[in-house]
Amino acid sequence: MPGPFSTPGSTAVVTGGAGGIGRAIAERLLADGAAHVVVADLDAARAEAAAAELGDRAVAEAFDVADERAVAEAVARIEEEVAPVDLWCSNAGVAAGAGLGEDREWELSWQVHVMAHVYTARALFPRMAERGGGHFMVTASAAGLLTNLDTAPYTVTKHGAVALAEWLSIRHAEEGIGVSCLCPQGVNTAMTAGDSATASTRLGGAYLEPAEVADSVAAALRDGSFLILPHPEAAVFEQRRATDRDRWLAGMRRAWAKISAART
Ligand SMILES: NC(=O)c1ccc[n+]([C@@H]2O[C@H](COP(=O)([O-])OP(=O)(O)OC[C@H]3O[C@@H](n4cnc5c(N)ncnc54)[C@H](O)[C@@H]3O)[C@@H](O)[C@H]2O)c1
Repeated sequence: MPGPFSTPGSTAVVTGGAGGIGRAIAERLLADGAAHVVVADLDAARAEAAAAELGDRAVAEAFDVADERAVAEAVARIEEEVAPVDLWCSNAGVAAGAGLGEDREWELSWQVHVMAHVYTARALFPRMAERGGGHFMVTASAAGLLTNLDTAPYTVTKHGAVALAEWLSIRHAEEGIGVSCLCPQGVNTAMTAGDSATASTRLGGAYLEPAEVADSVAAALRDGSFLILPHPEAAVFEQRRATDRDRWLAGMRRAWAKISAART
C-alpha cells in the first residue's frame, strides 16, 4: 500500500510548471533532492526559461495536457530520455468562464481539470504499477471542495478533479500508487493577477505565495496525506459545508449578496 513519498533521488514531472504554483513545486522538489524535475507546460518558451533557471536537474517538456496522444507520447519520451517517473504533479489549470460561462469554456475546463488527469493515469499508472508504484498529485482547488462564486465551470470541474483524485486513490492503492490532492484557496500567481478587490476568492482569506503552497505539498508528500490544504481555514469551511449544507448555502448566499453590492 502506498505511504509517504520520498523526494530525494526521485524523478518528478510538474505540469503547468512554467510559472506560479507548478514552478514553485518544481523548485521545492529540486531543493529537497529530486534527481530530475521535468517542467512541463503548454508554453514551450516559458517552460524552457523556467528549467534553465532551475538548473541542470530540470528539463523542459512542452505538451498539451488536454491532448491524450500528446500526454501518452510525453510519458513515453520522459521515461525513455530522462528516467522512470516516480512523482507526477498534474497541476496545469485554466481560469475560464465567468458566471455560467460559455460551452467552449466548460469544454476547456473539463479537458484541463479532469480529462488531463484521466489521460495521464491511463498512460502512466500501468508503468508505475509494473515497477511497484509511484505517486500522483492532482492540483484541484478549494473551489473543488467548496465553491468559487464567480465561476461555475471552474467550480464544477475542480469538484470533478477532487472526485477523480479520490477515485484513483482508492482504486490504485493496491498497485502501490499513492495519490494526493492539492486544494488551495487564493495564491498569488498569473492566474489571480487580475483579481479585483471584490473577487470571491478573497472571501476565503489572504492569498498565499506559491512557495508557501510548495511547502505544504512537500510536507504532505512526506507524511503521505491525501488532502493538501495550504490554507488551514479551508478544512473548517469544508467541515461546515458537510455538517449543515443548508446553513453553509445560506452563508454563501449572504456572501454573494455582499460581493454584488460592493460591485455596484
Ligand atoms: N492561483 C490560485 O489562486 C489557485 C487556487 C487554487 C487552485 N489553483 C490551481 O493551481 C494550478 C496552477 O495554477 P497557477 O495559479 O499556478 O496558475 P498559472 O496560470 O500561473 O499556471 C498555470 C500553468 O498551466 C499551464 N497550462 C494551462 N493549460 C495547459 C495545458 N492544456 N497543457 C499544459 N499546460 C497548461 C499554463 O501555461 C501555466 O503555465 C491550476 O490547476 C489552478 O487551477 C490556483
